[in-house]
Amino acid sequence: MTQNLHTLTPQTAPDLGTLFEPMRIRGLTLRNRIVVSPMATYSAVDGYATDWHVQHIGKLAAGGAGLVFIEQSSVNTQGRITHGCLGIWDDDHIAGLKRLADIVRSFGAASAIQIAHSGRKGASQRPWEGGGPLGDADIAARGEGPWDIAAPSAIAFDQGCQTPAEMTIEQIEAVVEDYRLAFERALKAGFDIAELHCAHGYLMHSFLSPLGNQRTDEYGGDREGRMRLPLRIAAMMRDMWPEDRPCFVRISSVDGVDIGWGLDDSVAFAAALKAIGIDVVDCSSGGFKLPAQNSLVARTPGFQLPFSERIRKETGVLTMGVGLIRTGEQAAAALAEGRCDLVAIGRELLWNPNWPAQVAVEMGVPDAWKLWPDQYNWWLRRRQVQQGR
Ligand SMILES: Cc1cc2nc3c(=O)[nH]c(=O)nc-3n(C[C@H](O)[C@H](O)[C@H](O)COP(=O)(O)O)c2cc1C
Repeated sequence: MTQNLHTLTPQTAPDLGTLFEPMRIRGLTLRNRIVVSPMATYSAVDGYATDWHVQHIGKLAAGGAGLVFIEQSSVNTQGRITHGCLGIWDDDHIAGLKRLADIVRSFGAASAIQIAHSGRKGASQRPWEGGGPLGDADIAARGEGPWDIAAPSAIAFDQGCQTPAEMTIEQIEAVVEDYRLAFERALKAGFDIAELHCAHGYLMHSFLSPLGNQRTDEYGGDREGRMRLPLRIAAMMRDMWPEDRPCFVRISSVDGVDIGWGLDDSVAFAAALKAIGIDVVDCSSGGFKLPAQNSLVARTPGFQLPFSERIRKETGVLTMGVGLIRTGEQAAAALAEGRCDLVAIGRELLWNPNWPAQVAVEMGVPDAWKLWPDQYNWWLRRRQVQQGR
C-alpha cells in the first residue's frame, strides 16, 4: 500500500467491513480486529525485557492495533531459542513484562503474551548471527555457548544440529510445571490474553507432529496421543486464566505439502481446543525442515487464510489469520469472506508501526484520528486541513 497519508479520501475509501469494528471475546473488548503478531526480537538479557522492548512495543502499541502480542517468552532457560529470548521462567521477569503490558494498555490496545518452549530448535544463534546451532565460535565471540535441548523424540532439527534426548516422563512433568508457573507470572504481569505456542517446530508442535514425535508412550503414537500434552497444557492455561479473559493457541495448520501434520489434524486439534474453552486458534504453518518437494506452500498474500477458513468453518472456533497480509483491503477481505475473525500482521508493522492508524485515516474510518496519540494527531490533522486534503 502507499505510504502517502492523503492518497485515499473518505469518498474513495473501499468498504472496510468489520476491520475497525470492536470485537468482544469473553469480558474483553478489542477496539478493532487488527493484531500485532508475536515477533521475537532476540534482544533480552538473561530473559529480561530491556529498553529495546520498551521502544519496540511502545511503537507498535501507539500504532492503532486492537491487540498487541509480546513475543514468545520462554518457560525455562532450556526453552529459549537463543540467548536473547524473552523469559518468563523467573518471578523477577514479571516487572519488565508488566511494564510492556502497561504500555500497551496506555495506548488503548489489549495485550497478549505468547508462552513458549523452543524444543529441538533451542540453543541457536540469533537470526542475524546465522541462525544455526551455537558452537565454539559463539563462545569465543560472545561467550554464548549451547545447552542441552529437549524434544519428544531423539530427532535432530537439521543436519549439524544437536540431537536431543527423548524427554522422560519426569522431564515432561517438570515442563508442565514450568508452563504453569509461566501462566501464573503472565497473569501477575497483567496481560489480557495468554497464548500457548504450538507452532513453528517448537516443543508443543514437535509433540503434535509425527515428524517430531515417535514416542510409544501415552504422549506419542496416534494423533490422540500426540495431542495429549499440548491439550493438557492448554487446558491448564484455560483453568488458570480468569474466566473473563481469552486464551489463544497458535498452531502450524500444516507442516508442509503431503507430509506430517495436516489440515485434518488441525481441524481435530482445534475442535478439542474449543471443547476445553480456548477462544481463538491462531493459524500459522510450517516450522520443520522438510524435503524441498514437501515445503512448496506458495508464499502469496494471505497464503495461510485457507487453513484458518476451514478450521473456523468446521469447528466454529474463532480464528486468527496471518501471513503476508499487507494492505487494509486484504485484511478487510479476509474478515468479510469469513476466512478469519482477527487479522494478525507481522512484517508490515515492522516496516510501518502506524499501519493500522494510517489505514484507518486513509480509508475514512469514522473516528480514525482517535487511533493516533494526541501528540501526533494534532499535527497531522492540521497538515491535512492546511493541505486541503
Ligand atoms: C521478526 C519476526 C519474529 C517472529 N517471532 C515469532 C514469535 O515469537 N512467535 C510466533 O509465533 N511467530 C513469530 N513470527 C511469525 C509472525 O508472527 C507471523 O506469523 C509471520 O511473520 C507471518 O506474518 P507476516 O507475513 O505479516 O509477517 C515472527 C516473525 C518475524 C518477522
